[in-house]
Amino acid sequence: MKFFIDSADIADLKAAVATGLVDGVTTNPSLIAKSGRNFVDTVREICSFVEGPVSAEVTATDLDGMLAEGRALAAIADNIAVKVPLTWPGLRACKTLADEGCMVNVTLCFSANQALLAAKAGATFISPFVGRLDDVGTDGMELIREIRAIYDNYEALETEILAASIRHPLHVKDAAMAGADVATMPPNIFRQLIDHPLTDKGLAAFLADWQKTGQTIPRK
Ligand code: G3P
Repeated sequence: MKFFIDSADIADLKAAVATGLVDGVTTNPSLIAKSGRNFVDTVREICSFVEGPVSAEVTATDLDGMLAEGRALAAIADNIAVKVPLTWPGLRACKTLADEGCMVNVTLCFSANQALLAAKAGATFISPFVGRLDDVGTDGMELIREIRAIYDNYEALETEILAASIRHPLHVKDAAMAGADVATMPPNIFRQLIDHPLTDKGLAAFLADWQKTGQTIPRK
């Protein structure tokens, strides 16, 4: 499963990318607003140090506006994935932009039928919002399982499932178990993935016992 980081914070993104385990980045208008920085400058800077897909979302709601913004965003860098919302104009923009060779990430997905429409429109990625479904008392991960089952029924559907709105490390595990192609997560969730108290305890014990030997390992 690919790991994307869901953030527009340059410092957080650079720290995550330095692990060598980050495959892409997703942003959205709220994350850009939170960064307090210019949208295009921020996306351009992210693309300068992230090799994988970097999602940048249009804010127009009409087809012509989405196409104009999407083409401008796609021109920022070759690894831009234009993000469009799951609306009829968004799906039409997805089809046109995909036909023009752009990567398209269809976002704000909350149902399997929406995901089926996005795949038929040629989306590169579909972003089901797991956490926001959980927030309203439905099983967000069930949507990932439904989309996986549907996409696997039809070879022609090549859209990658990008599990989004990830709230905790369990969502990452469950998304992998459900067969999501990508999970996009906040930087803090990415950092938490490695944590386990028994690992920390075990390493401390190894080092304490090693200390008692008085030995050191030669270095080159
Ligand atoms: O960026 C799309 C998605 O990850 C948003 O997550 O936490 O705002 O529901 P959240």
